[in-house]
Amino acid sequence: MYKVHCLNNISEKGLELLTSDYELTDSLQDADVVLVRSADMHDMDVPDGLKAVARAGAGVNNIPLQKLAERGIPVFNTPGANANAVKELVIAGMLLSARDIIGGNAWVKANADDENVGKAAEKAKKQFAGGEITGKTLGIIGLGAIGKRVAFAASALGMDIVGYDPFMDAVAAEQIVSGLRFVTDLDDLYEASDYITIHVPATDQTRGMIDAAAIGKMRDGVVFLNFSRDVLVNDPDMAAALESGKVSRYVTDFANPSVVKMPNAIVLPHLGASTAEAEDNCAIMAVNEVMNYLATGEKVNCVNL
Ligand code: MLT
Repeated sequence: MYKVHCLNNISEKGLELLTSDYELTDSLQDADVVLVRSADMHDMDVPDGLKAVARAGAGVNNIPLQKLAERGIPVFNTPGANANAVKELVIAGMLLSARDIIGGNAWVKANADDENVGKAAEKAKKQFAGGEITGKTLGIIGLGAIGKRVAFAASALGMDIVGYDPFMDAVAAEQIVSGLRFVTDLDDLYEASDYITIHVPATDQTRGMIDAAAIGKMRDGVVFLNFSRDVLVNDPDMAAALESGKVSRYVTDFANPSVVKMPNAIVLPHLGASTAEAEDNCAIMAVNEVMNYLATGEKVNCVNL
């Protein structure tokens, strides 16, 4: 009997797939299998009997991959399982930044007791007006499961798409959506884009890649969207760019003490994968990967061995 410990809430849709060879345990130290979402495992004591870890999500920077690999413990992730949910929030992020929807809604709430709120709103609304995303250029850094879906959806909304991905070639990239302009030099994407969204993992190579030098190459007034990981962006450099207006809006899914105070930042509480559908998909995929591994030794979507 394999014992499964969940470090975070894992959807029932996945857990109910566990066969009679598995049972849930509240004790991490008894676990053969760990299922995790965002819990930070770096400083945890890994149980002696641990046989596999599965992350219900794509990013694995909360898991000590190398340490587990040295002990022969595979770590699985679920690429693509929450990509549609993230894509929808990226589109929402662009729309939230195109007009001051958040400011407008706050104004309405603040004037909730005014009997003439309708008339007052007509006078107030110009301060929340903005532009449209149709006809604007969206630069997508990283054309994996999420980046591809964002390209497709944004193109359907009338945006021009510029894509960059060092692991893809032009032929593959151009099949994502008709008209996508694939660039092999990030500077070309920076130069061409009104909106830029980043969809790459947090690694030693990508940490801090959006710094003053990168921002300096972007268009004045660019909107930058980060639904990947906060560490990709150099916070002091982004704060300075928002202060100067070089970046008009920073939409990020990662609250930290620095970004919450930035002017013109729209900060969300890591909601990208928080839909019922994505949570079910990730849990189902994670549970199936682990059961398949323990039954056959096959490592599908293993990220560390
Ligand atoms: C991911 O890496 O796929 C997301 O951050 C998942 C999550 O929100 O748990």
